Amino acid sequence: MSDIQSIFSQLTLEEKAALCTGASMWTTVAVERLGVPAIVLTDGPHGVRLSPDVNSIGKTSLPATCFPTASCLAATWDRALIRQVGEALGAEARALGVGVLLGPGINMKRDPRCGRNFEYYAEDPFLAGELAASFIQGVQSQGVGTSLKHFAVNNQETERFRIDALVDERTLREIYLTAFETAVKIGQPWTVMCAYNKVNGTYCSEHRQLLTEILKQEWGFEGLVVSDWGAVHDRVKSLQGGLDLEMPGPQPRRTQAVIEAVKSGSLDEAVLDEAVRRILRIVFRAAETPKGGAFDIAGHHALARRVAAEGMVLLKNNGILPLQQPRRIAVIGRSAKEPYFQGGGSSHINPTQVDIPFDELQKLAGDAKLSYCEGYPATPAFDQALIDEAVVVAQMADVALLFIALPAFIESEGYDRADLNLTPQQTALIRAVCAAQPNSVVILNNGSALTMGEWLDGPAAVLEAWMMGQAGGGAIADVLFGRVNPSGKLAETFPLRLADVPAYINFPGGAGQVRYGEGIFIGYRYYDAKELPVAFPFGYGLSYTSFAYSNPRLSAASFNDVDGVIVFVDVTNTGPVAGKEIVQVYVHDRKASLPRPPKELKGFATVVLQPGETQTVAIPLDFRAFAFYHPGYRQWIAEDGEFDILIGASAADIRCTVRATLRSTLKLPCILNRESTVREWLADPAGRVAFDPMYQMIKAQTAAMFGAGEGGEGGIGMDPTGFMMEMPLLSLLQFQESSLPMPAEAIVDMLLQRAHEIAAQ
Ligand code: BGC
Repeated sequence: MSDIQSIFSQLTLEEKAALCTGASMWTTVAVERLGVPAIVLTDGPHGVRLSPDVNSIGKTSLPATCFPTASCLAATWDRALIRQVGEALGAEARALGVGVLLGPGINMKRDPRCGRNFEYYAEDPFLAGELAASFIQGVQSQGVGTSLKHFAVNNQETERFRIDALVDERTLREIYLTAFETAVKIGQPWTVMCAYNKVNGTYCSEHRQLLTEILKQEWGFEGLVVSDWGAVHDRVKSLQGGLDLEMPGPQPRRTQAVIEAVKSGSLDEAVLDEAVRRILRIVFRAAETPKGGAFDIAGHHALARRVAAEGMVLLKNNGILPLQQPRRIAVIGRSAKEPYFQGGGSSHINPTQVDIPFDELQKLAGDAKLSYCEGYPATPAFDQALIDEAVVVAQMADVALLFIALPAFIESEGYDRADLNLTPQQTALIRAVCAAQPNSVVILNNGSALTMGEWLDGPAAVLEAWMMGQAGGGAIADVLFGRVNPSGKLAETFPLRLADVPAYINFPGGAGQVRYGEGIFIGYRYYDAKELPVAFPFGYGLSYTSFAYSNPRLSAASFNDVDGVIVFVDVTNTGPVAGKEIVQVYVHDRKASLPRPPKELKGFATVVLQPGETQTVAIPLDFRAFAFYHPGYRQWIAEDGEFDILIGASAADIRCTVRATLRSTLKLPCILNRESTVREWLADPAGRVAFDPMYQMIKAQTAAMFGAGEGGEGGIGMDPTGFMMEMPLLSLLQFQESSLPMPAEAIVDMLLQRAHEIAAQ
């Protein structure tokens, strides 16, 4: 550190300004005379995409392991496994000479139509934050940095470089910032990448509230903020907002603007210095890690296979799976031979090797005879002949395995999906094959939720295999033949209809703006609140065994908010084979002063059980498990009272409920003001004491004003007390001013002063 300080003190203004923008597409600026090295930053979230050319965006990158993408990783719900993936990625990055890996991406899956959902974890901020923290710890354990992205509210590809996300403060905090907060506080990423879009009118790259006040000051982030590639518009404003490193570079005009702004006094040099210090700390930390050498290609491929199998979600199974040694297997669908295992865009990996599902099936199928036909074309064209051929092939087999991959022209970085359907040809293919062969299994490769109403009744089983990484072909074979008992569970709801999705009428906005009108109600929070049925709920996934939950209990029936509580439940494997269960804990606030979702995920754990085995699972719940963000207090609060703690196998499969009583220890400030309603005066502890002596009189006067007796309706047919509660006290008093000893404003100001004094005691 003292070296950094001494180097810093010798940097010229020109060198400092230059350090704050990249030297090339993927490298930072070196200052050779002072021994400041350049480091490489490269994608990405499920594999190392290192270009052989530092100035190229799209050249085929060096070979690296392509792990399953984030949707699949998240469906494992397995912190330890994701940490292992991070360790492997870190090792590969190190071997390839990379200092910072650009991932994980943890934006909320606000709407299943977002083309980039395959790169994101979940529709739930608790799950995404926990998993991202494990990923970060894994990568960084190898001496390689991460870049937590895209900060923030980057939930669509439409107009992605400029869209202005209009989101209220509570929603921002509870839904769109929480995962980042968890990942920053627990994982401590070396870098955070700011998003392209605007939030409430300001580009993220210039957003002082997000980058400086919340990320750096409130959460204590000590690393550097890097721009998404090309997200900077005004380098001086972005430095002032808290953006330390602009990528890519070089950008000589912008660097010059920084120098001139310092010279003219319009940019405080201390702001530039702070960015330079942050950059130097990360550059030297990354440079400390020895680079080069080989990585364990076979070991990482095996890990990719294990993770893929654990992230696959068995959506439907009438008993056909695991396959019972069929003699003739029809393998239908081009993705059986041309596996679709990753998405398009900046995360696209050049894999070290690729498992072909057809070949992997053949390896595990023993003497069974496999036949193949492609089923659908690679283009949007409709080809009935391919469907007719598939029907014949399916009829001649005992079982048909239908491999269906959502094409890249529908789902990718850079554009959103128009709907949640497969292509018309794929839908027709599934329907035709299932009609001809009842023993059909659909294996899906896609990055986010689909609607399946047109065909779901056809197949005997459906396996969601996601964008499964380079070893996914083997993983599919493992699951279909029962070498792996599926345990993945959905990290996103699969709706029945597109029109049911929470942001349906607000996505993707247009003309530069998108309104987050559904507020805190995204994903299951919305479907629960609306009591809407869904196709497959959040947290859902089938197994080849079954699990029973019993003996739910808490470490204490009542507890202080700051202490939290531990939830215990016994889980038993009641089926025939070993299996892994993902136990989920949701919290329901029985009474809150603001609307809250019916339940929210606040804890989860995985447990591996042999047949007949029971284990006790312990899941801690902390202050934040019970809290919500109060926009009035501008802080997280947990209110006194009863909470239901719901323990389940999915959001729609709650197995046990226990009740707990929380005591709030927060000393909240009095936030009453001239606009506060009578209801708010009575609800506020200090306000109530101050207002109480006047309350009965005002109530009686209000009733008289309406020509009503106490509790009765007045001449205009309404309950005066109910009416009064929703009025600002000041407005109410203004109606009654003729009978008051002083002006209404003076009375309210007096009461406010009294209430603030009481609150401060
Ligand atoms: C993407 C980032 C990525 C960067 C560098 C951008 O277009 O949004 O996720 O890390 O490019 O490839």
